[in-house]
Amino acid sequence: MEVIKKQLCRILLVFSLLQSGTGRTRQALASPGFIQTACFSNMFWMKLDESFLKNKFCRIEIINPSGIPVLVDKELGPRCGYVLSKDVWGNTVLRASLLGCHVTNERDEIFSLTINVKVSTFEDMRAPEVYSYPMRCAYYPWAPREIVCEENYMEVSVKTDIPVISDDETAPWMSALPETQKVAYQVWQLVFHSPSGRKTTVVSDAGKLGYSFNNTLSRVFLRSPYGTNESEYSLVNGVTMSTVSSTSMYKQRWLLLLIDTTVSCPVDGTSFTDADIIWMVPTMIPRLVLQQPTFTSLNISMGVGEKRIEDPEKLNYTLERNLTHIVITIPIGADDGRFESTVSNGVHGITYSINVFLEHTWSDTDWKLTKYTVIKPITTPFMPRIPTVVNDTDPQTRLFNVTLGVFLPDVTLVAVTIGDMPVSLKEAEQKGYKITDTPTSSGKKNFRLEVPFDDPNVLREYVNKNETKYYLRLNYTLNVGPKGKVYHHPADIECIVADVVLPEAIGYCDKKSMYLAISMKDMGQLWRLYVGNKPLDPGTALANGYLLTANATHQVLQVPLFAVGIIYEEVSLERIQARFDLALKKARTMETLETFSVRCHFLSHEFVVCYPNGTVSVSAVMKTLPVIDMGKTRLKDQACQPREFTKEQAFFQFHVSACGTSLRFEGEHLVYENEISFEKESLPVQGPPVITRDPEYRLTILCYYPIKETLIQSAMFYGFSSPPTASTYGYGKMIIRSNVAGLRRARQTLNIISNMFKDKSFAAAYGTHSVAVTYSWRPVFLEVELKDGSPDVELYLDNCWMTETEGFSSLPRWNLITDGCENSSDGTVTFYPVIKNDRVKYPNHFKRLVIQMPTLPLRKVYLHCTATVSTCLRVPGNGFRHKQCTSERPLDQHSVVHPACQGYAVTGPIFVLHSAKSEQQ
Ligand SMILES: *[C@@H]1O[C@H](CO)[C@@H](O)[C@H](O)[C@H]1NC(C)=O
Ligand SMILES: *[C@@H]1O[C@H](CO)[C@@H](O)[C@H](O)[C@H]1NC(C)=O
Ligand SMILES: *[C@@H]1O[C@H](CO)[C@@H](O)[C@H](O)[C@H]1NC(C)=O
Ligand SMILES: *[C@@H]1O[C@H](CO)[C@@H](O)[C@H](O)[C@H]1NC(C)=O
Ligand SMILES: *[C@@H]1O[C@H](CO)[C@@H](O)[C@H](O)[C@H]1NC(C)=O
Ligand SMILES: *[C@@H]1O[C@H](CO)[C@@H](O)[C@H](O)[C@H]1NC(C)=O
Ligand SMILES: *[C@@H]1O[C@H](CO)[C@@H](O)[C@H](O)[C@H]1NC(C)=O
Repeated sequence: MEVIKKQLCRILLVFSLLQSGTGRTRQALASPGFIQTACFSNMFWMKLDESFLKNKFCRIEIINPSGIPVLVDKELGPRCGYVLSKDVWGNTVLRASLLGCHVTNERDEIFSLTINVKVSTFEDMRAPEVYSYPMRCAYYPWAPREIVCEENYMEVSVKTDIPVISDDETAPWMSALPETQKVAYQVWQLVFHSPSGRKTTVVSDAGKLGYSFNNTLSRVFLRSPYGTNESEYSLVNGVTMSTVSSTSMYKQRWLLLLIDTTVSCPVDGTSFTDADIIWMVPTMIPRLVLQQPTFTSLNISMGVGEKRIEDPEKLNYTLERNLTHIVITIPIGADDGRFESTVSNGVHGITYSINVFLEHTWSDTDWKLTKYTVIKPITTPFMPRIPTVVNDTDPQTRLFNVTLGVFLPDVTLVAVTIGDMPVSLKEAEQKGYKITDTPTSSGKKNFRLEVPFDDPNVLREYVNKNETKYYLRLNYTLNVGPKGKVYHHPADIECIVADVVLPEAIGYCDKKSMYLAISMKDMGQLWRLYVGNKPLDPGTALANGYLLTANATHQVLQVPLFAVGIIYEEVSLERIQARFDLALKKARTMETLETFSVRCHFLSHEFVVCYPNGTVSVSAVMKTLPVIDMGKTRLKDQACQPREFTKEQAFFQFHVSACGTSLRFEGEHLVYENEISFEKESLPVQGPPVITRDPEYRLTILCYYPIKETLIQSAMFYGFSSPPTASTYGYGKMIIRSNVAGLRRARQTLNIISNMFKDKSFAAAYGTHSVAVTYSWRPVFLEVELKDGSPDVELYLDNCWMTETEGFSSLPRWNLITDGCENSSDGTVTFYPVIKNDRVKYPNHFKRLVIQMPTLPLRKVYLHCTATVSTCLRVPGNGFRHKQCTSERPLDQHSVVHPACQGYAVTGPIFVLHSAKSEQQ
């Protein structure tokens, strides 16, 4: 196997003053450090350092042999054999063929080219610094045929001192022979063989087609850009080859020179795995080897950048050859290449690029030796790399510690949106956010951001019972890769810390009340206090009879015993064990977090407790003189006796559905009423004992239970003052009624009685023990009397009505007096004057009504009245109440406050016979 002698390359740097046409340019006298030059194979090679050219504008000119600068651009490059590009590191690289248009060629051995590098800080290249670089390269000996597959051109140069005409008749270039008849004398001509036919052209015309053809002392060469009309693409062992097939012709007097100047270069052949780049080039290119059996591959070498790699395996590259392919494998990430960050469709990722070259020398009969060089910049497809957010937040330090990574060094963080506030890195620093670039050992980097929990841009939410959720919303803005593409990466970090101190409450008791002192911090914002289903506020407190006071840190709730909302845990003759609960609810969700309770024991003798389930506990205290036997007190149903009693106290417990309890509606309440009484037994002179009608001791027990909103409307018959709104517990009331002297306590209601009389003399009442009967056509005479009133008070009737059953709220009812006025619609009721007599000591303590009911379908009648005394009216009236009843009525219904102003009495029944009027007496 023949080994090709290494080409001798020299760099000759000549520092010379360059004559320049423009006076404005400054010239460098010395070699600036940022330019590197080399002779590489059959090329000039120059590199301009990326760091120097940063933020500068650069223009590269070639000085032609007559000293005129020519700009290297897209058109000139492929035609003249120049490649101006960037290497993977971003350095500007110029490669120029030794056979380039402006190269001075000395005997095909020494080549020189002068390059001007102009650098300006302005885009329009004003005031440039000009660095002039003459390069000289020696290259010898040339192979008989040298082919270069560059990035932007293909070049073939062949030795012309050897007549190289194959005797293979089938060779396409032989088909140029007929053309030889017309070959111009001493003029080079080209015949292109393409699928569309043959094209003959003189050299100057070939230039117009984009080709460059010339001869040197001993060689002719053809340079072709890729994709000309005469080029064709074909597959060789799966690799696409671009081929320009041509024959060069020259005729001298006795010589006709035909040279095969066909050039063929691979245009693909790369493939990628996750780890490797695989580049395949056909081992033998049929269009370049006419007599294939004579083909012998001699030497294959590879390189990266401008560096030949002598021992690829050492660097984990592989260079393999079999009959069909030369295969180069490059691990993605090899040091000679470079990763680059980029953004594709909003996704962050990387590519890996490397510039590889392959040099293959082979021999065949026709050419003896061919040197075939392919220079191949390879870039992998986009490989997505989604950055990760690492959360090193430490609840102890109350600092979000967030790291975004991993990035290549070509990524910079430019801004972060924290919450809704975009901040540049500089602003972030001013605002106290710490942003650091943290390099990794592998030369990559992360961005770490620290934001305190208590920063205004951190969202916080009160969660669970005693925790705060701190929530950091981030949106990073990064500048990615050499092109500075913008990439956004959002991150949501949260941290839950148990840093909420729940309010605390202290409960205590005194003889009459229960107290809760609750700490106030964040109350209202985070929490609310609830009594039952009502928020605790001054309104609720007032309505429920609590006292709510507050200082800077605490509020104190005082709940008197028997107030609404108290839970009676144990009620007995001796004591009451009561509890009061206050719920601490989360303001946002109304979830109950805690229940503050205070439990107290009261030595209370007199009380009514109305339980939610309808049970009523009553402790009654004797208040009579002479003393009565409390053991003999009873409820309405005489069978209901005290559960426990002492000399002074009786304790009853009963259900509202039993013991003769009656029910009525009053405002927003259901009112259950019972009575504890002591029936005085008197021994008659003869006959069995009778029970007198008037008890010595009467205690009315009332339990008010709130009713539902919807019921209230239909149940609002008349307007007593509204009792406090309440929870499911009812609230109780006791009203003592006694005819006996020695009452120790003020009465709660008026003591009024009513009676029905047989005629207008109001002398004979219908008996209470006998059955009272009347006729429907006969009037009924009703008298209402105030008992135990002082002489000067006057009794007023507020409302009187008639029903068929005894209950206060029984229906149907017929109104007789409404708000003090006769219900005059049918004229069936009139006030009747009261005259003083033996029975009537104070006429102002009486009211009388005459009631006609001829058409009413009643069988049985009860008459009900509610009454008021004049002392409760702002303008005490005189005379008959029915006169000027409306104007005289000074009392606003809702201003009735004191129960001792009002009374209620019912009388009946009286049975009504509906018979003909002819029976009238
Ligand atoms: C061929 O090369 C010579 C010598 O370098 C040059 O003067 C001439 O212009 C070139 N011809 C073309 C067509 O490039
Ligand atoms: C080659 O690959 C091996 C195994 O992956 C690795 O350990 C070694 O560092 C690589 N050598 C070079 C020069 O990259
Ligand atoms: C040569 O190697 C390539 C790549 O491994 C393979 O595709 C091809 O089949 C091989 N050719 C021969 C003749 O073994
Ligand atoms: C943030 O997290 C990193 C990685 O764990 C750590 O090295 C650094 O000290 C943390 N910063 C603070 C302020 O705790
Ligand atoms: C928060 O509540 C949990 C469970 O109720 C309790 O274990 C913890 O001690 C509380 N922490 C604080 C700071 O109050
Ligand atoms: C991040 O910011 C960019 C630019 O303002 C915006 O288009 C994108 O929707 C933001 N992403 C998120 C998750 O908010
Ligand atoms: C981040 O770290 C904190 C503290 O360790 C932790 O509570 C939280 O769940 C973590 N995760 C996210 C997604 O924020």
